[in-house]
Amino acid sequence: MNSEYLKETAAIAALKFIEPQLESTTIIGVGTGSTASFFIAALSEIKQKFNAAVSSSEASTEQLKKLDINVVDLSVGRKVQFYIDGADEVAPDNSLIKGGGAALTREKIVATSAEQFICIVDDSKLVNKLGKFPLPVEVIPMARGLVAEHLVKLGGLPEFREGTLTDNGNAILDVYDLDLSSPDRMEEEINNIVGVVCNGLFAATRPDKVIIGGKSGLTIR
Ligand code: A5P
Repeated sequence: MNSEYLKETAAIAALKFIEPQLESTTIIGVGTGSTASFFIAALSEIKQKFNAAVSSSEASTEQLKKLDINVVDLSVGRKVQFYIDGADEVAPDNSLIKGGGAALTREKIVATSAEQFICIVDDSKLVNKLGKFPLPVEVIPMARGLVAEHLVKLGGLPEFREGTLTDNGNAILDVYDLDLSSPDRMEEEINNIVGVVCNGLFAATRPDKVIIGGKSGLTIR
């Protein structure tokens, strides 16, 4: 049983959970990455049961449009009922690291806008404490050096993600070795560094539900 299959089972479980709650006016937020991509594929089967999708990246928008799913912009005050997305790490308290696919800022915007945030993962993403996966931080390109200095002061080892430009035209620093034992505090502290657009800690905005695909079946918490 490989992790792709487990991601797909989690994605389908999320679809089955939201399906009975859909109305013709429902707007669904969709995440980015391989797990979210399974969800988008499944969503196309029931596209007549909801109004539209709000996307967290150009890549997901492209997939949604190819499947003929109506995509709308969040900026005009849309109300998002559900946001479904994957994660890079999930802690026991459901705080997350996200942003391996560089879409963290738009992901956090849509997750924060949604009435319900449902995270879908395979069980390889579960950790006892966050931080083995380097924390992605989106930065304004000219502030890269300045932000890196601050991150070192916070105890981290920032590494510039070569060749990556986010959908917002910014750079990504992947930060190793940070102490993430108080994720809410660290999320806020990093956000306060001038030049930081957003960081991949999802502690202030935690999922309401995490659906985990594992070898012995699904777990929901
Ligand atoms: C994208 O920027 C990320 O936040 C993804 O949600 C995360 O990297 C999980 O990706 P996979 O579903 O591909 O593992």
